[in-house]
Amino acid sequence: MATSSRVRSTVCALAIGILVAGCGAKPAARVEAVQTETVEDFGLHDQRGDFHSLYYYSDASAVVLFVQGNGCPIVRNGVPSLDAIRAEYAPQGVVFLMLNANPQDDRDSVAEEALAYGIDYPILVDETQLVAASLGVTRTAEAFVIRPSDWRIVYRGPIDDRLDYEAQKVDPGATYLADALAASLDGRTPSIAGMRARGCLVALADAHADAPTYTGRVAGILDERCITCHVEGGIGPFAIESYEDARGWAPMIREVLRTRRMPPWQADPHVGTFANDISLTVEETQAIVRWVEAGAPRGEGPDALAASARVAPSWSLGEPDLIVTIDEQEMPATGIIDYRYLEIPAPVDRDVWVRGVQILPSNYAATHHVLVSIDYPEGFTAPWASDERWLDGVFAGYAPGAEAEAFPDGSGRILPAGSKLIFQLHYTATGRPETDATRLGIYFADEAPDTEYMMTGPVNGDIELPPGAKAYTASAERVFDVDMTLHGLFPHMHFRGKSFTYEAHYPDGSTELLLSTPNYNFNWQRSYMLAEPKVLPAGTKIVCRAVFDNSAQNRFNPDPTQTVTWGDQSFDEMLIGYMTVTWPRRAPAAAGVAAAGAAAGVAAAGAAAE
Ligand code: HEC
Repeated sequence: MATSSRVRSTVCALAIGILVAGCGAKPAARVEAVQTETVEDFGLHDQRGDFHSLYYYSDASAVVLFVQGNGCPIVRNGVPSLDAIRAEYAPQGVVFLMLNANPQDDRDSVAEEALAYGIDYPILVDETQLVAASLGVTRTAEAFVIRPSDWRIVYRGPIDDRLDYEAQKVDPGATYLADALAASLDGRTPSIAGMRARGCLVALADAHADAPTYTGRVAGILDERCITCHVEGGIGPFAIESYEDARGWAPMIREVLRTRRMPPWQADPHVGTFANDISLTVEETQAIVRWVEAGAPRGEGPDALAASARVAPSWSLGEPDLIVTIDEQEMPATGIIDYRYLEIPAPVDRDVWVRGVQILPSNYAATHHVLVSIDYPEGFTAPWASDERWLDGVFAGYAPGAEAEAFPDGSGRILPAGSKLIFQLHYTATGRPETDATRLGIYFADEAPDTEYMMTGPVNGDIELPPGAKAYTASAERVFDVDMTLHGLFPHMHFRGKSFTYEAHYPDGSTELLLSTPNYNFNWQRSYMLAEPKVLPAGTKIVCRAVFDNSAQNRFNPDPTQTVTWGDQSFDEMLIGYMTVTWPRRAPAAAGVAAAGAAAGVAAAGAAAE
């Protein structure tokens, strides 16, 4: 069996050994059997915005990946043949996906093409072209058969011999793809492992042209996107503080970018614009990966990361009027640490208006998130309170990289005397015992504000995930009867959460997708703050749609055999579409205004006012 040089060069590109001598430079000198080709994991969004990780399909009997391209006649004419193969093999557990790496196509045009030509496959849109490049894709209409037991490519080439440029046979003489699938499902090696595909050429950017250097480009991106967490004492497990660190982590950096594990930002980049967006642009991802694949060159000039001084986070709005410190928490070296809840009486002796808050963990390496809610005192029936009053009570939050939150101008929150502050603490094991004594800083307003800054949102407590279900869908909705301004969105599910969307249904009948997190990750509880706050007129309905994965394929699932319903523990589930909003002040105008410091100094059990 002949092994094309393209296949051989792919072997090099695919091995983590891109940095291994012998690969890259003269691939033709290496002879490798096609069976040794393994595909590394990757993550991509499809034309509908759904997220796919290749390795999620480890339970498939085979994965077929077909290279699609808009406008290519061979692709369009090949789809009916692929449909026929799918009809036979999908029931046998074969997963069918397409890949589009054409620079001239984008998600919208791919979706249009799919609609126009009845292509109902997920088409993974490879905007960075990194997946196509690593597979050695040069033409569309090429089909790959990937064997999930070891992620090897057992066949690559055309579907059959029916189609050629401006020529079609009625019936194929050779059914390469179907033969390869039949063999692979039978545990045999397909007799033909690779054939030249006849498709349209994919305009791949030249990966080796002008590889960026660390000093020229890469250090700046790392500084902006990674160092918040990957700093000494940060939540990231290692620090990237020099060229040597970056070079040492280079292959892993490439892996987390390809799989989209890092930076931890789950929003679909095609939906909404967010002020706290930490994701990489297509160009930034390409720059880093090309740098890694070029051998991580340093470049000339000083090391920007080594030179930049890291300042420990501090009270960025100045010294708070009140500081509440939790009792020191102790964390074990390893294992899953379930959420902890602490209840601390708010140390205020009268109702106060608050204009800003900040949470400062003492241990950034172990603190994943902190959420503080107000449990209002008995008898304090605030007129805005929804049926789910505990929802409206979310008061302050911390996630890595978060800064002080100065509430929007002219807005504030009331903290009534007699309230309790409920701290929800999510710690992570770092490999050694850790302690933390998080502080909550509170800034008082001088006067009652015009608008109130609140957390609210739709909730659905009526969820029931069947054991093993890969995509259990549920929704929550709520109509708001006041004009309000939306500032942020904070989807909340637990380990089984898979994806979450917010859609606004406006009173004029129009709808708008506000946020989509197609690759939801329970570990990262965060707000997506709108770059431009949005006015939601009275009568707007917010619909949240959540998908849960209770199967063994969900690597976070603690037990796929359980029926899962609503509950506080992370092995239970939740469906909450938190929204941060401002709306006209409804709290009693008479609520007192604290003179700075007046309320401080009321030490309470579990809390110490500094
Ligand atoms: C918001 C904080 C945060 C940011 C920003 C961040 N990381 Fe991470 N990173 C983490 C945490 C936490 C882990 C450990 C994850 C785990 O428990 O496996 C991690 C792990 C990693 C790993 C180890 C592999 C793995 O999946 O565990 C690599 C490599 C990495 N990050 C690279 C990056 C790069 C490159 C960037 C910027 C493009 C980045 N990170 C941005 C927090 C962050």
